[in-house]
Amino acid sequence: MNKLVVSLLLTLGVAGAATAAEPIKGDAAAGQAKTAVCGACHNPDGNSLAPNFPKLAGQGQRYLEKQLHDIKSGKRTVLEMTGMLTNFNDQDLADIAAWFSSQKGSVGAADPKLVAHGEALYRGGDIERKVPACLGCHSPNGAGIALAGFPHLGGQHSQYITKQLNDFGEGTRTNDGDAMPMRTIAGRLSKHDVEALASYIQGLH
Ligand code: HEC
Ligand code: HEC
Repeated sequence: MNKLVVSLLLTLGVAGAATAAEPIKGDAAAGQAKTAVCGACHNPDGNSLAPNFPKLAGQGQRYLEKQLHDIKSGKRTVLEMTGMLTNFNDQDLADIAAWFSSQKGSVGAADPKLVAHGEALYRGGDIERKVPACLGCHSPNGAGIALAGFPHLGGQHSQYITKQLNDFGEGTRTNDGDAMPMRTIAGRLSKHDVEALASYIQGLH
């Protein structure tokens, strides 16, 4: 990694995000038994078919577990899931995270017209606008950095990615921690950037 990327990562608080508490050990088989209600939207194996429902298959366990806690506590608003996690305790959430994380994620396709711009931003960022390269935290192939809780993005529905970038940019999704890496970055992206990045990510693997 070059110096610029490293310094941007440090200003954006990667170190802080990486020191979150150790997750509870999840049991994937026990988790599968608890996910009957989830399959209607996310598909039983986590490869959701509808573009507004995120794929959970192959997502990092630590990231999934954090989102489940954030959705349950209301720190992240997901109206479609209202009340669904109320009766799950911390062990249940760890088990569910382990189940979806153990499944193989499917990959979509990128729009050829948007690939060049999306790839350039994802891989190189934009120094003038202080947008760091996404690959620094989400890895070159979009696998993320599971142990740091940086989510896997590769293959995710572009419609879902677009909504998340807009939500971070507008400050309606605020659960990216005190260092606010995603709110800061998304706030610097144009509509065209978001569209191109989301399309590139959908085909990334
Ligand atoms: C009625 C549809 C629906 C059901 C049922 C549902 N979800 Fe969701 N879920 C959503 C939507 C929609 C989002 C994304 C909201 C947004 O755009 O931010 C989401 C987001 C998530 C996320 C965050 C994913 C990410 O990449 O950040 C996780 C984890 C999750 N759901 C797990 C579950 C689990 C576990 C269950 C079952 C207990 C479940 N969901 C049931 C609709 C649903
Ligand atoms: C400094 C590290 C860092 C960089 C650089 C970074 N991200 Fe993120 N990103 C994160 C973290 C951490 C999260 C998870 C926040 C949370 O826990 O909710 C995240 C979450 C996301 C999500 C939500 C995923 C989901 O499943 O809901 C998207 C989309 C995303 N990032 C896209 C990007 C794009 C596109 C870029 C480049 C323009 C980028 N990120 C650059 C750290 C980073």
